[in-house]
Amino acid sequence: MKIRRLEPADIRACERILRALPEWFGIEESNRAYIGDLDTLPSYVAIADGDVAGFLSLKHHFPAASEIHVLAVERSLHRLGIGRALVERAEAGLRAAGVALLQVKTLGPSNPDEGYRKTREFYKALGFVALEETTVPWGPDNPSLIMVKVLGSRP
Ligand SMILES: CC(C)(COP(=O)(O)OP(=O)(O)OC[C@H]1O[C@@H](n2cnc3c(N)ncnc32)[C@H](O)[C@@H]1OP(=O)(O)O)[C@@H](O)C(=O)NCCC(=O)NCCS
Repeated sequence: MKIRRLEPADIRACERILRALPEWFGIEESNRAYIGDLDTLPSYVAIADGDVAGFLSLKHHFPAASEIHVLAVERSLHRLGIGRALVERAEAGLRAAGVALLQVKTLGPSNPDEGYRKTREFYKALGFVALEETTVPWGPDNPSLIMVKVLGSRP
């Protein structure tokens, strides 16, 4: 498996991966936005056996603060280290660019969804810390958990 920058030709495969995970990505409007954003956001893909196996895109909010905008791994390949490899590659690029803080927003623990419980376990295993649960921006039925990871000190 290798990680490389996303190329335009990868986007269809990324869309297939996203659409095959409706428990996490079940809102059509959001899915269209995530896929559309791949045209412009810095993004990586994981390649396994010649195919796109997962992808991640980043948003840069400030010179020292970035966000994982979307991350998804092909369902049949979960728990093989692909998500970790994507995040670690992104973190290396961010550190080299002087980014000190990385955040991700995911569904918070006051929603009992089992899929997102696993997602939170994943981020926790990678060193992210839960910072705050808030009803912004997804509303009271979908509490958003902000998780953060310190990548380094600001140069
Ligand atoms: C979350 C996701 C990206 C993780 O990718 P992955 O390739 O399956 O995860 P990895 O194999 O790299 O896991 C790394 C570590 O995270 C933890 N982890 C991952 N999945 C876990 C699970 N289901 N339960 C508990 N811990 C888990 C483990 O510590 C794991 O290390 P280990 O396997 O050596 O114990 C992937 O499962 C996915 O696409 N999920 C659906 C979409 C999603 O949740 N995206 C993020 C939205 S914010």
